Amino acid sequence: MDRTATSRELLPADHVIVLFGATGDLARRKLLPGLFHLAKAGFLPRRCRVVGTAPAAEALSDEAFRAHARQAVEEFGRSRPEGAAWQAFEASLSFGAADRDDAAPLLRAVREAEQAIGGTPQRLFHLAVPPAAFPSVIGLLGDTDLARGGRVIVEKPFGTDLVSARALNATIHTVFDESRVFRIDHFLGKEAVDNILALRFANGLFEPLWNRGHISHVQIDVPEKIDIQGRAHFFEGTGTFRDMVVTHLFQLLGFVAMEPPVALDAQALRDEQIKAFRSMRVLAPEDVVRGQYTGYRTENGVAPDSDTETFVALRAWIDNWRWSGVPFHLRTGKALAEGRHTVTLGLREPVLRMFPLDAQAAADGRANQLVIDFADPGTLTARFLAKEPGPALRLAEAAMVFEYGTSFTLENALEAYEHLILQAMLGNQALFTRSDGIERLWEVAAPLLDAPPAVEPYVPGSWGPERTDTVAAPYPWHLSHPR
Ligand code: BG6
Repeated sequence: MDRTATSRELLPADHVIVLFGATGDLARRKLLPGLFHLAKAGFLPRRCRVVGTAPAAEALSDEAFRAHARQAVEEFGRSRPEGAAWQAFEASLSFGAADRDDAAPLLRAVREAEQAIGGTPQRLFHLAVPPAAFPSVIGLLGDTDLARGGRVIVEKPFGTDLVSARALNATIHTVFDESRVFRIDHFLGKEAVDNILALRFANGLFEPLWNRGHISHVQIDVPEKIDIQGRAHFFEGTGTFRDMVVTHLFQLLGFVAMEPPVALDAQALRDEQIKAFRSMRVLAPEDVVRGQYTGYRTENGVAPDSDTETFVALRAWIDNWRWSGVPFHLRTGKALAEGRHTVTLGLREPVLRMFPLDAQAAADGRANQLVIDFADPGTLTARFLAKEPGPALRLAEAAMVFEYGTSFTLENALEAYEHLILQAMLGNQALFTRSDGIERLWEVAAPLLDAPPAVEPYVPGSWGPERTDTVAAPYPWHLSHPR
């Protein structure tokens, strides 16, 4: 299936969605509000039920689960939980607890939901649980036969290294074949990813430049202003490389770097993305700066001698005909100066320059770039040099800026999770990662995981450790050296 569908074709078949981790943080912040928005926007099938589940120790009654969902939507949703839309959504919620050795309440809740819908609705299991719980939930779905014919959404992080990712894939494949597995990386649900595809493959303007002949370097820069926000338990065992780089930033890199797919369907897109991953050179630890903000070690739940990184800047290489010799600079971290999501393509200088090199921007290439800012809603900026009005032929920096927010109505825009849950219900895997892609990325990461350089301190509110600039040299990091 491709996604160039009309909105009528975007309506999924009847569904029972089973939400593991229904009382957890992700369900509260993203999934319950997202499902309500999909329902309100008319993207959920008319006959759809959501069954929440959690271990018996955290069991809720149907009423309590509905109240929990209402509160979640109230706090984190885009629209208020009220009116006919809310009543219909609320009525579709129920709860059934499940432990590995006793899943009877969940089985009952699913059966009741299916009877209420009638026919044979599609089952979709969303595993919003910590990675350590994946195997037991998958085992439960297999043993109880709930999994039969259903699809499963698995949250990141998908493993912690190559060995654990392989083991996890093997566990999942004992119950779900790959065509029914939806490994979610919410960055792929952001409008930006589809926009990169549109920009590159719908226009004659950009794609001809999108290669080593015209591009000198690429930066994928996702600084975050927030610190770990009390998530020490998660963060200590994970760190920024596993939380953000091997997942979100590498996935984006796949879309920026891929060859044109033969179609927009899942197989064609994922084949090209994974081909780019296969061409990635394994990471060299000396191309990586790991940072830790000062004050991290005194956060509640963090070891006083913690070596966990809260910042990563690295240089990656893609050894294929399109990108050979073009460095990809990736940076992300917590407690940095700004919260941004940007991809910058630096364009090469013209071969001959007739103009005096008076503008510093011309010298360091900053006046010659394409910047994709995928904030919600994003912008696209082409920076270039123009002639300054006046008798002298003097260059000045100029920009063409396209703003999604002022150019289109955003009424139909979906948030990342909403977009991805809808695609999973439609059975479209195009924006989900495939097992071989995940395993390849852990292979690329292996040398760094085996011999990580020591963490270097940085001041909260800065742009990372001092050595960060050496990663991008001779180019500046465009976000932290604005003009
Ligand atoms: C999550 C990470 O996957 O992505 C968080 O676990 C991070 O640490 C978040 O803050 C960033 O997502 P977004 O969409 O807010 O940029």
